[in-house]
Amino acid sequence: MPKRVQKPPRHWRKEIDFVLISQEQIARRVRSLARQIEKDFAGRDLVVVALLNGTVVFLADLLRQLSLPLRLDFIGVSSYGGGTESAELVFTKELRLDVSGRDVLVVDDILDTGKTLAQVRAKLQKLRPRRMRICVLLDKPSRRVESINAHYVGFEIPNQFVVGYGLDYAERYRNLPFVGVLHPAMYKNPDFIPLLSLKKRSLLLGARTATAPGSAAPRPSASP
Ligand code: XMP
Repeated sequence: MPKRVQKPPRHWRKEIDFVLISQEQIARRVRSLARQIEKDFAGRDLVVVALLNGTVVFLADLLRQLSLPLRLDFIGVSSYGGGTESAELVFTKELRLDVSGRDVLVVDDILDTGKTLAQVRAKLQKLRPRRMRICVLLDKPSRRVESINAHYVGFEIPNQFVVGYGLDYAERYRNLPFVGVLHPAMYKNPDFIPLLSLKKRSLLLGARTATAPGSAAPRPSASP
């Protein structure tokens, strides 16, 4: 992983402070995750269950690297109630495919406190899949409050609020082809604040927003 601070492309420089994970690093890592997943699920009846909305970019790239027969479904999750760590999760879209007796690969953008994936895992377990594995692009282990880990992790990152490659700030920046850290000034942008979900507001309060690029270097994670 390069220690050098990577500048974002010119047209993003006013908003994005630095690139944490480049487009090339992501592409390499997604290919390697796909190879591991292919090996582990070869010959199985695989259902990929992706969490909306932050997963879509990662999911689209990962799926196209997978040379396996599979089916795809989505679960929608939102948090409501106070914007605190204990905010209640609400399922906004339910699974439609039958996963009973099948192999399930849950795909999410980021594993942070683990509350979201712990609830999704509990919900899916009730449907009695044969096997369930979790794949996330990013992992922030320092923030974990639930006892949960992903079997496939793209990159382990420090406690920093990140955007891009599907991840948003006030629904923006999902289309960045890299994962980056916003300029601290953007957190105070009065146009964005009313659009922030309660979950994002509480996340930002807990995240390290001061830029420390040297210490922010992510590292590809080996699957357990
Ligand atoms: P938990 O805490 O339940 O959270 O593991 C997972 C969800 O929190 C959001 N999240 C982030 N979103 N930048 C984002 O844009 C971040 O740095 C970040 N950290 C957590 C995300 O929606 C994820 O699915």
